[in-house]
Amino acid sequence: MSKKIEIKNIYFDYVGKNKTFGALEDINLDVEEGEFICILGSSGCGKSTLLSILNGLNKPKSGEILIDGKRVVGSGADRAVVFQNYSLFPFLTVKENVMFGAKKSLKRKEFSKEERIRRVNSYIEAVGLLEAVDKYPFELSGGMQQRVAIARALALESDILLLDEPFSAIDPKLRLELQELISELSKKHKKTVVFITHDIDEAILLADRVVVMEPKHIKQTININLPYPRVREELVGKPLFESIHRKLISSFYENIEENIYEEVSL
Ligand SMILES: Nc1ncnc2c1ncn2[C@@H]1O[C@H](COP(=O)(O)OP(=O)(O)O)[C@@H](O)[C@H]1O
Ligand SMILES: [Mg+2]
Repeated sequence: MSKKIEIKNIYFDYVGKNKTFGALEDINLDVEEGEFICILGSSGCGKSTLLSILNGLNKPKSGEILIDGKRVVGSGADRAVVFQNYSLFPFLTVKENVMFGAKKSLKRKEFSKEERIRRVNSYIEAVGLLEAVDKYPFELSGGMQQRVAIARALALESDILLLDEPFSAIDPKLRLELQELISELSKKHKKTVVFITHDIDEAILLADRVVVMEPKHIKQTININLPYPRVREELVGKPLFESIHRKLISSFYENIEENIYEEVSL
């Protein structure tokens, strides 16, 4: 396996009028080609900041991101992003939203118009929305909107998928369905994935490796050696699942206790 993403010595500050807030300090992480990484951490520890740097929306104060060995200088169609709040174009139908991804694709010139439409339809079908192709986002539930966002990200045909707590606002049953969907599709399309979550079960179900963050830092990375496909009901109670769960809980909650202590002691 080769390195797809290299995060090297990243520091990032939010600079305000009167004060500067250090959000990330010396973040280092390599992501292998085809690997599914979950970044797990409590609220405010810097997960979205790190993703915004990977996405090229924020520039680090120092350090660099390399993709395929080349330094990232801004956002680009080589990285597709899915956010928590769906961020669909409200004035475009499902099909048009997904077509938008296809039009931005770096590979679009490789395909005829007919082939592009066929591919767009195949992504809409993959997320189970063929019957809703002509609907507008306001006509869809949150879960359906997030399916559109996933189809649009796939239509970009980028090697890399970046997802920032994409299922946090979705109810638990639908959330399980969407987790299975993203796991299956990312494997099928050989994506390299960075998926942010604060949900331990979600991280275990999805990730090859979980990166636990504490404020400003990476605290620990834990390999999840469970075969795919991972079905939650089948895993819960199994010794390996439970031991990974315990490990992540202690790593994760140690952070939160530290945070509470810091807040209390202010
Ligand atoms: N635009 C901003 N200006 C100042 N501070 C910010 C800004 N965005 C985020 N922060 C702070 O940076 C820290 C990390 O934020 P964020 O990356 O959004 O955390 P997470 O995604 O893990 O919840 C938090 O303490 C947050 O308050
Ligand atoms: Mg966040």
